[in-house]
Amino acid sequence: MSTRPNLSLDGLLAELAELARISEGEPPVVTRVVFSEADLRARAYVKGLCTAAGLTVREDAIGNTFAHWQGREPELAPVGTGSHIDAIPNAGSYDGTVGVLGGLEAIRVLRQLGFTPRRSIELVIFTAEEPTRFGIGCLGSRMMASVLIPAQALALRDKEGRGLEELRAQAGFNGALESVALAGGHYYKFVELHIEQGPLLEQEGIDLGLVTAIAAPASLRIQIEGEGGHAGGKLMPGRKDALTASAELILALESAAKSTGAIDTVATVGVCEVFPGAVNSIPSRVRLETDIRDIDGARRDRVLENLKAACADVANRRGVAVATELVNADPPASCDEEILAVMEASAKEAGRSYKRMVSRAYHDSLFVARIAPVAMLFIPCRGGVSHRPDEYASPKWVGAGVHVLARTLARLAS
Ligand code: GLV
Ligand code: MN
Ligand code: MN
Repeated sequence: MSTRPNLSLDGLLAELAELARISEGEPPVVTRVVFSEADLRARAYVKGLCTAAGLTVREDAIGNTFAHWQGREPELAPVGTGSHIDAIPNAGSYDGTVGVLGGLEAIRVLRQLGFTPRRSIELVIFTAEEPTRFGIGCLGSRMMASVLIPAQALALRDKEGRGLEELRAQAGFNGALESVALAGGHYYKFVELHIEQGPLLEQEGIDLGLVTAIAAPASLRIQIEGEGGHAGGKLMPGRKDALTASAELILALESAAKSTGAIDTVATVGVCEVFPGAVNSIPSRVRLETDIRDIDGARRDRVLENLKAACADVANRRGVAVATELVNADPPASCDEEILAVMEASAKEAGRSYKRMVSRAYHDSLFVARIAPVAMLFIPCRGGVSHRPDEYASPKWVGAGVHVLARTLARLAS
């Protein structure tokens, strides 16, 4: 493809802004939890755009959505691209959506140029990349790759105790969950465009990140049961305060992550629910949700083991009961050298600067990597800010990402 793609950047930016307005929060807050009313409206909006672009849309039993552009040799495995449109509470407008609407724009550009792909090109909108509702990330791609099997999926509950089966049926997804799994080799290659969610590209003034590996995420849920009581009447000796016990665990996790000495080890306690949650009542129960990641899976596992050891130690010393549940501990993924080479050639051709880098955030590509060669294309985001309403990627950055994605898809599908 020698012609410069005829990007409709204004149109794409307007679509991103429109999608951001479909939210459970007041703008600029984007909240779109899977199977919520906002998620369903957002799906309808994006599906409408795909159909208008001439793509054939299909949905699977968990709501993964596939917008297909048939190639000249439809029997060949397609080239895939895509990301997610669900958003955590209080999120911004670019996480996931750039890969979906940017992927669609890349396809529209190629169609407008009269390009006819040899392999089909398929845009995928994955269900529930975010763990907000069911506590586990990448639900759709995890099931697609058979990392989460239907029996495990059926056991998932949200905070209100509503099961996956009930919620997906209410959202209009009814088929057999077994049919979500795709066979190895289903995609010839898969490329996901995404914002970096870190500061490096912007700081270094580089247009694009070519992602070589995706870090290994793990999540451990911890429930601490102590003894409640009157905050005035119960004296300090002999207390079994579940929150002070939790405080030790939170700090133990922080120091375990720091002690690896590796910049790539990160750990977070993002959920701390205190029961009964009254100022004059000693906390009797606390629920923590932890998130631990590293590009090195074995090093990540050592942090996890340190946390479990701290749980046993705190239970012992403080006389509280500590129960743990491993939600997930996924291995890292390596990206495909051939796609990286194609992205590199495409970036050069497009006159964009680039560097190779790792992704510390997880993405659906982490799971697609189990069934197809993957790579990711990162664009900068202002200040490295993500998962916040002020998340921002400039039109120039978005345009560069879509431009190079279009060239990459064209080369891979030729
Ligand atoms: C994805 O949203 C992540 O938390 O990395
Ligand atoms: Mn996210
Ligand atoms: Mn994302």
